[in-house]
Amino acid sequence: MLSTEQYSSYEEKGFLVLNDFLTLAECESLRTRIEVLANSFQTQEEISVFSTGPDRQLKDRYFLESGNKIRFFLEDSLQQKAFNKCGHALHTLDPVFSKFSHSEKILQLYKDLSLQDPFIVQSMYIFKHAGVGGEVSWHQDATFLFTEPNTVIGLWFALDDASLENGCLWAVPGGHKGPLRSRFHRVNEVELSFTHYDSTPYEVEKAVPLEVKKGSVVVLHSLLPHMSQANASSVSRHAYTLHAFERTTHYPKDNWLRY
Ligand code: FE2
Repeated sequence: MLSTEQYSSYEEKGFLVLNDFLTLAECESLRTRIEVLANSFQTQEEISVFSTGPDRQLKDRYFLESGNKIRFFLEDSLQQKAFNKCGHALHTLDPVFSKFSHSEKILQLYKDLSLQDPFIVQSMYIFKHAGVGGEVSWHQDATFLFTEPNTVIGLWFALDDASLENGCLWAVPGGHKGPLRSRFHRVNEVELSFTHYDSTPYEVEKAVPLEVKKGSVVVLHSLLPHMSQANASSVSRHAYTLHAFERTTHYPKDNWLRY
């Protein structure tokens, strides 16, 4: 599926955009399904705020125990009752998301990206609702999903056109060649902590926006610094994401996510 040029570009930049990877029908099927799940979740009392800040998720059992469940998280800002995201086991527990996530073209893409036996460890549906979808600050995905050696690769499926206005991804080309800055990991059964390894700043002045059309997929190396701004526009920016690693690589027990 991937050409030599595309793979070389991925290795050089740490990201790759593939247009028209999904059909519009596939996009709609995921959007329709999350709506069904969201509507059935509205009454659940245990809904947690999702935040990328260092403190909010600490000791948050709702988050900690979501690795093998389908749970919804609210936007962080006060008064917001909008969903920020749903995670982290849509790909195993929900039939529609499971079928999509393990489809032949996704497994083939992972194989083309050099994972011989890809194991999908995490899925997220990100709403980024019009007007309320919050910023996701600069980070490396390996901070949150760590393997030895690092073989984690993210796939980010655009279920809306993603633009500067509605909070598209931004990335630092080549930034994946830098070190892992920190890890977010379990201290024990109920506590999470950041451990910092390297203070080299991300070269955010070199960052580029990844404006993509609905149906595109963005491949993200797990050491690539990336972020997305808040959605202040009047249109949503839905996305579905998967993270997979080579099945035989070591997944330390202190990863926050237990699958
Ligand atoms: Fe990320």
